[in-house]
Amino acid sequence: MTLHDVTVCEVGLRDGLQLVPDFFPTADKLAWIAAEAAAGMPEIEVTSFVPPKLVPQFVDAEEVVRGALAVPGLAVSALIPNLKGAERGFALGVPKLNFVMSVSRTHNLKNVRREREESVADFRRIVAARDALAPQRRPRLIGGLSTALGCSYEGRVPVQDVRRYAAALAEAGADELMVADTVGYGDPAQVRAVFAAVRAEAGTLPVGAHFHDTRGTGLANVAAALECGVRRFDASLAGLGGCPFAPGASGNIVMEDLVFMLDSMGLRTGVDLEKLLAVRAILARNLAGSELHGALARAGLPTNYVPAPLRAAA
Ligand code: COA
Ligand code: ZN
Repeated sequence: MTLHDVTVCEVGLRDGLQLVPDFFPTADKLAWIAAEAAAGMPEIEVTSFVPPKLVPQFVDAEEVVRGALAVPGLAVSALIPNLKGAERGFALGVPKLNFVMSVSRTHNLKNVRREREESVADFRRIVAARDALAPQRRPRLIGGLSTALGCSYEGRVPVQDVRRYAAALAEAGADELMVADTVGYGDPAQVRAVFAAVRAEAGTLPVGAHFHDTRGTGLANVAAALECGVRRFDASLAGLGGCPFAPGASGNIVMEDLVFMLDSMGLRTGVDLEKLLAVRAILARNLAGSELHGALARAGLPTNYVPAPLRAAA
């Protein structure tokens, strides 16, 4: 098994595609998953268990999950907004379910139509339902905190609110927390403050980071989070992404650029950059109307570039 210093998770099939109005064919979603897994991507959030009426892009959630679960060695995860979504995940045996609520009240109301306390109560019910399953069928439950670094309805989001809901989700039984800058408002100084506050509540739970590059601070925020001890990062191929229920939301940090930065810093991700770059072709043929982002794709690898695992072995 490949040694990883940092775990990266591809979220383009969920965060990326939820903003794409045209249906991305199921076969091409599965080709994308298979190609990234073959490039060494350890984990992929493959879909979202939301009502297909609300986000038709995910009408094939069950089929995509079944296909992804058949890919050897791949950690498969999916987004859930409520108990119904969790039950769809339980039925398929998804090993990891990413629950989301927003730290900002307005975004939580717009996105999942609930007060924040109702979302915490939902998460408690999901944990109880998970714990009632046979031990080998129990998924890990991730407590996701959206709009933790800013909200396009409310603007600034107080650090004490992030801390409060991090504590609430940890107390409710999260196996891990994920802090998300849904609309790309964060900067490195704020990242340090927010992650210090969350880690104070998380105890031994791992804390991951989900950044958007809406205002160009994405990789700087990753560097700040690394300094805070974060070792799990979401990103999306070609920087697709954005929440359909948050005005002005745009792409996640670019996976290729994230892996390149980590690899250059000597942090192993298990991902082969050349193979990863080649997966963009699957996006290009399906997303004629969307811009594919990425500095590495534009500039190419540096001359005589030696990937981190080979440097470590030399
Ligand atoms: N999957 C499939 N169907 C679901 C569902 C789920 N996760 N959750 C609810 N439904 C169905 C219900 O069964 C019900 O169906 P019916 O009308 O046939 O009886 C209908 O949807 C309404 O259910 P309700 O519980 O009233 O949900 P809601 O309308 O209050 O919606 C959410 C709440 C959370 C399901 C919805 O706001 C949501 O999915 N938000 C997430 C949006 C998103 O994708 N954001 C981006 C990612 S963060
Ligand atoms: Zn996001």
